[in-house]
Amino acid sequence: MRFEGRCAVVTGGGGGFGKAFGAALAAEGCNVVLADVYEAGLEANAELINQAEPGRALGVRCDVTSGEAVAAMTAQAVESFGSLDILINNAGGSMGVPKDAIDQVKEEDWDKVVNLNLKGTFLCTRSAAGYMKKAGYGKIVNLSSITARLGGQLTPVQYVSAKGAVIAFTRHVAQELGPFGINVNAVAPGVVLTGERLEKMWYGRKSEDERQAYVSQLPLRRLGSPQEIAEAVLFLCSDQASFITGVTLDINGGMFSA
Ligand SMILES: NC(=O)c1ccc[n+]([C@@H]2O[C@H](COP(=O)([O-])OP(=O)(O)OC[C@H]3O[C@@H](n4cnc5c(N)ncnc54)[C@H](O)[C@@H]3O)[C@@H](O)[C@H]2O)c1
Repeated sequence: MRFEGRCAVVTGGGGGFGKAFGAALAAEGCNVVLADVYEAGLEANAELINQAEPGRALGVRCDVTSGEAVAAMTAQAVESFGSLDILINNAGGSMGVPKDAIDQVKEEDWDKVVNLNLKGTFLCTRSAAGYMKKAGYGKIVNLSSITARLGGQLTPVQYVSAKGAVIAFTRHVAQELGPFGINVNAVAPGVVLTGERLEKMWYGRKSEDERQAYVSQLPLRRLGSPQEIAEAVLFLCSDQASFITGVTLDINGGMFSA
């Protein structure tokens, strides 16, 4: 039970990784606030976690691109569970925008995707950092992506750029918050079929041959699972990783290593 009595906010908690991260944290004694705009997903994931770990999960509707909504959500987490110890900045994605050529990318698509993946990470970190600095304790894990390392085979430039910026943001904030006892790290997963959105992208945008060619580039010759990413996220939140901060952990079956 590495996280007994702690409180974690998992943004994007209504989605695929949100479910895996929330369930894994709750199984180790953590109270979990799942924050998302997708209410059906929130409800389903909170119910699933509460079936296994009664009372540990709370679903809160929150748009991470709104500073006001984020402040209300973090306040609710502290009010409900007494502290905010862990923040997983997981809300993100390419929002279904097309993978346009750079000379065709629409400004509104740029703003949409960069706001969700980068501004959302900033707003949640800003809000959680206030509580964590006062407590002298905190663990923040940001979701980057293999696309930030290699460019987007599957994803648009807005997403690649925002996930690259998340790596720089992580390094900067780790330097600033380290003296307060707060560790800030990121994970950069490869393709993981976390649910419908990812399955649509994987099966919809690639032929069987293309999928096989992609997997054959991976030294481990397979896609990862949500649980394998959750294991790494929990490690970064744990005392076992107490001297690790500012890093981005590549979790991609060996396709890229820094
Ligand atoms: N699955 C992968 O292959 C993969 C790989 C690398 C990185 N990632 C990153 O992991 C994270 C989670 O991805 P996932 O695969 O679970 O996708 P997902 O679509 O299942 O989950 C993303 C969640 O974010 C929520 N969200 C969208 N806009 C929001 C907003 N404004 N405020 C709050 N929540 C919002 C969505 O409703 C959704 O529930 C994302 O940041 C994604 O970019 C995923």
